[in-house]
Amino acid sequence: MKKVLSLLAVLALSVSLCACGASGAANAGGDAPKGEEAFKTVEAGKLIMATNAYFPPYEYYDGSDIVGIDAEIVKALGDKLGLEVKIEDMEFDSIIAAVQSGKVDIGLAGMTVTEERLQTVNFSDSYAKGIQSIIVREDSDIKSIDDLSNDKMIGVQLSTTGDIYATDDFGTDHVTQYSKGADAVLALTTGKVDAVIIDNEPAKNFVEANEGLKILETPYAEEDYAACISKDNEALLKAINGALKELTDDGTIKGILDKYISAD
Ligand code: ARG
Repeated sequence: MKKVLSLLAVLALSVSLCACGASGAANAGGDAPKGEEAFKTVEAGKLIMATNAYFPPYEYYDGSDIVGIDAEIVKALGDKLGLEVKIEDMEFDSIIAAVQSGKVDIGLAGMTVTEERLQTVNFSDSYAKGIQSIIVREDSDIKSIDDLSNDKMIGVQLSTTGDIYATDDFGTDHVTQYSKGADAVLALTTGKVDAVIIDNEPAKNFVEANEGLKILETPYAEEDYAACISKDNEALLKAINGALKELTDDGTIKGILDKYISAD
């Protein structure tokens, strides 16, 4: 009896050891499309996603769960690739470094593809469009982007494209960086800054949640959102793009976007 048990233990151990060294193709239960190179993930059988979960409707907390567009997209990607998804919340500023250094497999955070970021990480095909919007107080004398140049203070989330563009256009003296978008919006409601530049869908959420704010009608910039993946993991990039294409073609991505974003 003892022998049987220890044999079982050895078997169980070797199965789990085996799983540790497994590649993506094995993760996918041998389902990897023909000709597709096997990909590796940080933990076999898992797809670890980095995000900054204070960015509704892309990612936000519902109790202790991280939900939203990116959470649903990564889950659908994981299902396609046979990977269990784990989401890690961190500062927006840390996501690219986490991906680049191989701590996580993928970053999804309503993240804009930029030339500069492409120097350090790869981006998947784009799954959504984004707009940088300007939020002001309802009684503000700021009517358009041009009004921002005269001694106004702009609040942004640190290291976002809103931060990068505002700093480029108006100079560091006119920009205050916050670790969360919501903190920038709070600073706007209390008069510490005169405007907030942030992605349009979170902007709508923040304006709804705070009285006395409005979004200027002229968008500040238009952009593409995509998932970032380490440059050392081309095989995972290919697999993600393959899965993303299937999810785009069968309407899953549109379904997820429509669930969170109303047409108007
Ligand atoms: N789209 C902007 C960027 O890529 C902001 C993204 C912020 N995302 C977040 N989850 N906080 O820089």
